[in-house]
Amino acid sequence: MSDHMKIMNEKTGRIVMLAVDHGYFQGPTSGLEEPGKTVEPLLAWCDAVSPTKGVFLRCMPPESKTPVILRASGGNAIVYSDPVELERELSIRSAGLADETAREALRGQIADEIVNRELSNESITVSAAEAARLGVAGVSVSVYVGACYQKESILNLARMSDEGRREGLIVLGITAVGKEMTRDARYLGLATRIAAEHGADVVKTYYCEGFERVVRGCFAPIVIAGGKKVPEREALAFCSRAIDEGAVGVDMGRNIFQSAHPVAMIQAVRAVVHEDLSPDAAYEMFEDLSVAPLTD
Ligand code: R5P
Repeated sequence: MSDHMKIMNEKTGRIVMLAVDHGYFQGPTSGLEEPGKTVEPLLAWCDAVSPTKGVFLRCMPPESKTPVILRASGGNAIVYSDPVELERELSIRSAGLADETAREALRGQIADEIVNRELSNESITVSAAEAARLGVAGVSVSVYVGACYQKESILNLARMSDEGRREGLIVLGITAVGKEMTRDARYLGLATRIAAEHGADVVKTYYCEGFERVVRGCFAPIVIAGGKKVPEREALAFCSRAIDEGAVGVDMGRNIFQSAHPVAMIQAVRAVVHEDLSPDAAYEMFEDLSVAPLTD
């Protein structure tokens, strides 16, 4: 049995993990243009950090002792360039369409469909043996339930669970949600359970209405991602609800590093996760720290 507790905070059994793996498919994400500069001031407040291999190898402060969960699936990107496929599909679907503007609109629509479909087309990008050699605590693999490459992504996780276990790695299963999916309790309940059934030691998903049902249906501990940047008060509120409803912590990125005050924000998130601070009190803490940030 893999010991996921080794990355949890000793006192609370919960976790604040900083997600900085966004660049693996979306390039220089806002706030992560220079990952080393983003990560360095935040590490003191993290129980773990989840970078890509590149960020881990080149951007983490060399003296950092913060446990690492390394992204180990990828191979996709927010653009997909296969003009042959696009033209083939266009010629089939535009048959009888004489209007050039309509044809161009269809071309754009098909290109979007191809990009969305291909986003679920991931493979393992770091072997368990290499992750172990790099000395990380664990690895993360995305599953795309309901997407075109559902099976392949679930098998990526299953394989990493087998191989990671042999290397003593914690395996974090991530429920990646494509544009065509709804982030509701029904879908996230299905996706998290499937991740757990295929050997994830911890599952990362999103907070949603009815989240307690998602937690109840998933026998692996759940952490939440933050998703797109929202106002700090809102982010702290859904963190707090997630913890109340059974999450063991967060693996949060944009709502921390895209804040105007990332160090204040991560401390407020930490207080919610580890001290059960109410959202109002946490927001007050965020505001206080934003005007007078701690220097040490
Ligand atoms: C996707 O790129 C990654 O799994 C992110 O780590 C995940 O979405 C968490 O980051 P955020 O809190 O920004 O959603």
